[in-house]
Amino acid sequence: MSKTLNQDQFAAALLCWHQQDGRTGLPWQNLHDPYAIWISEIMLQQTQVTTVLERYPRLMQRFPTVQALAAAPLDDVLAEWSGLGYYSRARNLHACAKQIVREYGGRFPQELTQLESLAGIGRSTAGAIAAFAFNLRTPILDANVKRVLARLFGIKGPVQSKTVSDQLWQLAQTLLPQEAKLMPRYTQALMDFGATWCTARQPICLSHQNSLVKKCPFENRCIAKQSNQVMALPEKVVKTKSPEFDCEMLIIQAQEQILLQRRPTEGIWGGLWSLPESSWQKITLDSFVQPPKIKKSFSAKKLLQMIFASDQVAEKVVDQFIKLSDKPTRGLLLKHVFTHRVLWIQSWRIQLNKPISIAGTDYAWFKLNELDTLGLPQAIRLIFREWNLIPDADKANE
Ligand code: ADE
Repeated sequence: MSKTLNQDQFAAALLCWHQQDGRTGLPWQNLHDPYAIWISEIMLQQTQVTTVLERYPRLMQRFPTVQALAAAPLDDVLAEWSGLGYYSRARNLHACAKQIVREYGGRFPQELTQLESLAGIGRSTAGAIAAFAFNLRTPILDANVKRVLARLFGIKGPVQSKTVSDQLWQLAQTLLPQEAKLMPRYTQALMDFGATWCTARQPICLSHQNSLVKKCPFENRCIAKQSNQVMALPEKVVKTKSPEFDCEMLIIQAQEQILLQRRPTEGIWGGLWSLPESSWQKITLDSFVQPPKIKKSFSAKKLLQMIFASDQVAEKVVDQFIKLSDKPTRGLLLKHVFTHRVLWIQSWRIQLNKPISIAGTDYAWFKLNELDTLGLPQAIRLIFREWNLIPDADKANE
């Protein structure tokens, strides 16, 4: 390790880099309020900075304190999160806020282990909150930081494995600056360096070979760079092809209302309002060489029986049935890609004379002009857009 970086050199070089080339002026930087830091950290996971720039101030305005968030109905939190995806983050935000109010009198705990015990806060997020809000010497290790350390120190093996992960956490700990007051800037610098310079696809050391302006401060001591392995590290795990499913969904409209069904709390889109749907059928390998074809017609009654698992409800709908809306055209077959699966959704729109009542509490009729404000899964929002039931976000902003 003699040629590799030691603790003092690493922190000093990183802080120096941050002063010159780090990101500045972002609304979640230089905060000391753990609530504001926590919200920004959760939102920044899996969401692009440009989107967070727009949505973070909005959420903070709607729920300015942990008390306000805890007191809000879950539906309001999900609605505010609408479009950001990964809704378990929103459900955890709400659960965590309640936990902080209930167990800690509304004040964020200041110990790492307590932070880690809160809903939706993992070891790295706890480290970030502790470093940003309380100047604690606690490391972070998100995917960007894993990449930076694996390259700098030439760590082999898949970063998801326990052995490699333990090794990286150990490294992250030893590299922390001695002075606790440097922790916020150091942590931000490490995040920014991974997100903007030591990137997965276009690391600066390979993109600007001849540029004197942008030279990675670690280039001479980065094991990956020195041994030509920058793109080979960190080692990737071979992904298996995601399984594919198809299902049909019904947009049942009566007068100016649409029938929605609340998803069970557990599982995909947990707790969100969605469309009544048939069960998801796994598409076998043979049939998904080609995407599923749009079916040209359907048996309303058969599908209704399938969706509601009830002849009675199907009868009620058929009784009120006026027409199948215009012929399916483009966009009625939607491919939705989840992290670990793909769903092909064929949607049909039918019109009824008047709303029918359905036993059970997970169905409800919503006015058309309410749809846009509900916590809807992104796929369902897209379906409504395709059917022109809610405005297209891009067009509305023009
Ligand atoms: N990703 C997660 N946390 C972040 C932060 N504080 N700044 C930039 N990107 C981030």
